[in-house]
Amino acid sequence: MTMTLPVLTIDGPSGSGKGTVSRAVAKALGWHFLDSGAIYRSLAFAALQSGMHLDDEASLAELAVSMDLVFSADDPPQVWLDGIDIALQIGTETVGNAASCVAQIKGVREALLQKQLSFKKPPGLVADGRDMGSVVFKEAPFKVFLTASAEVRAKRRLMQLKDKGHDVNLNGLISEIEQRDRRDLVRTEAPLVRAEGAVLIDSSDLSIDEVIRQVMKVVQSDLDE
Ligand code: DC
Repeated sequence: MTMTLPVLTIDGPSGSGKGTVSRAVAKALGWHFLDSGAIYRSLAFAALQSGMHLDDEASLAELAVSMDLVFSADDPPQVWLDGIDIALQIGTETVGNAASCVAQIKGVREALLQKQLSFKKPPGLVADGRDMGSVVFKEAPFKVFLTASAEVRAKRRLMQLKDKGHDVNLNGLISEIEQRDRRDLVRTEAPLVRAEGAVLIDSSDLSIDEVIRQVMKVVQSDLDE
């Protein structure tokens, strides 16, 4: 099969292992990597910092257009907002929840679309998010929908956050994750859905290595042709 610029989309709820898996797969393939959640998180962080209300649609859409956001190609990447590295600050649950709020706004999603599309560069792209396969890279030849139970996801998130030195408890995390899922699933603008043709992988009982293997299979069989 001749493909000029292959894209693999990996969508799914928070904590499904998307981030780790997408990064590993991008590295193995030598492709670029887009963490679209980090873009929404950066906007949410900028909004919180400036004291903006998270339902102020006009101001949020304007901020999405005007913010100066740069990602480094490192792993994990540095994220500069107006020249300041905010990679650590955007990893908190507070910013994640705020990101899920600002992501509901149509003007915000439209303003951030071009930024996401600009990550599509040779030799290929792995795009991690909620609407990568259903909206942003609808034409992608490879699509995965990665999920896991809310409890498993909360436990994984707990470990990640503890590693980063954040103070969190499991029950609080489960209810936050369920609340965030609801918001991401029911919104009118680009809700979290399994894109048409996306391969479903439930990672609840799988090791990260096994998930990576399954995702690689989705791409590999075609690339080998
Ligand atoms: O993947 P994450 O946890 O970093 O994403 C944070 C929030 O951003 C998520 O709850 C919903 C929103 N988001 C989105 O609406 N669309 C995307 N493509 C990625 C993230």
